[in-house]
Amino acid sequence: MPSASDLSRPRVVVVGSANLDFVTRLPHLPAPGETVLGEAYSTAPGGKGANQAVACARAGGQVAFFGALGTDPFAEPLLASLRESGVQDWTLRVPAPTGAAFISVSETGENCIVVASGANATLRPERVPPLAGVGWLVLQLEIPLDTVLAAAQAAKSAGARVVLNAAPARPLPAELLRQVDVLVVNEGELRTLAGGGELRGCLRHVQALGPQTVVVTLGERGCLALSGETWTELPAHPVQVRDTTGAGDTFVGVLVAALSRGEALASALRWAVVGSALACGREGAQPAMPWRAELEEALSRWTGA
Ligand code: RIB
Repeated sequence: MPSASDLSRPRVVVVGSANLDFVTRLPHLPAPGETVLGEAYSTAPGGKGANQAVACARAGGQVAFFGALGTDPFAEPLLASLRESGVQDWTLRVPAPTGAAFISVSETGENCIVVASGANATLRPERVPPLAGVGWLVLQLEIPLDTVLAAAQAAKSAGARVVLNAAPARPLPAELLRQVDVLVVNEGELRTLAGGGELRGCLRHVQALGPQTVVVTLGERGCLALSGETWTELPAHPVQVRDTTGAGDTFVGVLVAALSRGEALASALRWAVVGSALACGREGAQPAMPWRAELEEALSRWTGA
């Protein structure tokens, strides 16, 4: 647990999941009931919460990660990745297995993920740390929903801004969306929250539920954001896709790193688009995430937006 002096230091706190990812590359993703043979598997640090903290830190953010890990050996590579990426470790060790994710990646780079939550499911609302002095709180939906809500409420009471990446997709209570300043979703997650309809209408619909800013990531079509009355649309940064696992998490982490150092939304979105493209060009979630120097270099060469 953080000491009182730690609590005032990070500009960003990520509250969420940490998983050890077991990744197999396959000729194609299995249909229900189908068995597909892959050659081998590898393990890598993952989990949407830890991924976003790592992406944020590598992009220059000052960030702490609060989540739950088991006391088993699976926790060790997750802690090492947080440490090596410069994330402040606010994790709890609990008597439950560390979360695990079983990921299939097709030849075209698409993925399919099954998560065994383990320790992540033990993160109860009463364990949320005090958030005084924190500028930004980042949340996703791989820990219990009442904990996500408690953390969002604690952040708002402390004057912090709340970023919610509403992934994996699920309907959300109105009370949670009212606490959110920046909502980041992919197209499927957006439609889960907004129902059907054309894209801009969906963003307007979700914005009316609370978040001032709604960002939808569109894969190879880039991203679209609505902030107040202002629309921002960016194309994707060109990349040869190898593995899309963690690309959305990279987008969120890099976006918040830029916002938390005072960049305007349009500029922060450019960083995020470039970051997620770089992550798609490499394998794994955290192993693929870019560092600030790479991002700066790619941004300086990008003429797309
Ligand atoms: O968003 C990618 C992540 O989803 C993976 O790292 C996996 O752990 C699952 O949480």
